[in-house]
Amino acid sequence: MPQKIILDVDPGHDDAMAILLANASPEIDLLAITTVAGNQTLPKTTLNARRVCSRAGIHDVPIAAGCDRPLVREQRVAANIHGESGLEGPTFSGEPDVPLDPRHAVDLIVELLMASDGDIMLVPTGPLTNIGMAMRREPRILPKIRHISLMGGAWGFGNQTPSAEFNILVDPEAARIVFESGVPLTMCGLELTHQAKATPDIIQRFADLHTPLGDFAVEMLQFFASTYRRMHGFDGPPLHDPTAVAWVIDPTMVETQPAHVDIETHAEFSYGRTVVDLHDVLGLPKNVQVATKLDVPRFWDLMVGAIASYGA
Ligand code: BDR
Ligand code: CA
Repeated sequence: MPQKIILDVDPGHDDAMAILLANASPEIDLLAITTVAGNQTLPKTTLNARRVCSRAGIHDVPIAAGCDRPLVREQRVAANIHGESGLEGPTFSGEPDVPLDPRHAVDLIVELLMASDGDIMLVPTGPLTNIGMAMRREPRILPKIRHISLMGGAWGFGNQTPSAEFNILVDPEAARIVFESGVPLTMCGLELTHQAKATPDIIQRFADLHTPLGDFAVEMLQFFASTYRRMHGFDGPPLHDPTAVAWVIDPTMVETQPAHVDIETHAEFSYGRTVVDLHDVLGLPKNVQVATKLDVPRFWDLMVGAIASYGA
């Protein structure tokens, strides 16, 4: 039986690749795509989700827009990485042919979970606003969530401040709700996702497909590569978000270590930090499986195979 998931995204180049991976994978039953403000404003991330689905011919998955700002903090976006549209690189003409579901993302998440037998996983790859909000709105969903595999955090350095990774930094209060929820959680943080760099030889593998979706991936990754080169000096942009999907598809692709993780919400300079007790100094309950090591060749075979499966 394919694993049912709800993919909560803020596309975003790597979110777009996560959508394409999840939809293409026979191991996954993609129930819904929900959008959140993050890499760009909510109208932009929502339009981008619809654009990606339209380009890939994904017509049978509801797309619902969620929260347009963090629970407490001022909104911040990542235009320096993803551009003004949030998905710079490819050109899009006209309206996407995929409609927007009229339901609020939080309502849709609650509805799907409440109607389920506890067999749905959540895969958030943006700020955790929608998920935290859903947990507050309807706490009865908590025992219904089979697992959360999320992209966010780091046990070491951040990428937006010295301490914090973008998704957690944008909405630390929501992240705290999620990390303290008691729901089993896998955290694909920066130490994992930086192993998934789309270097030029990887981008070439997508180009060699000579398919519309292969070309689309190349257009996205080339822009993403240019900003990561400029901002971080990387030789390839990390494909952060698909790693959280890869864990659902095949958990043996990702090594994890159980640890107690807290979210810093008070500190002046380090709010948004995931404080990861990898060495069990505190002896507290281990609420998170922290992803440590990616099977990089298998990850890229999976990713390229997924894009190839969309055909010519
Ligand atoms: C995360 O931030 C966003 O820019 C990416 O889409 C990813 O989810 C990486 O820190
Ligand atoms: Ca993202």
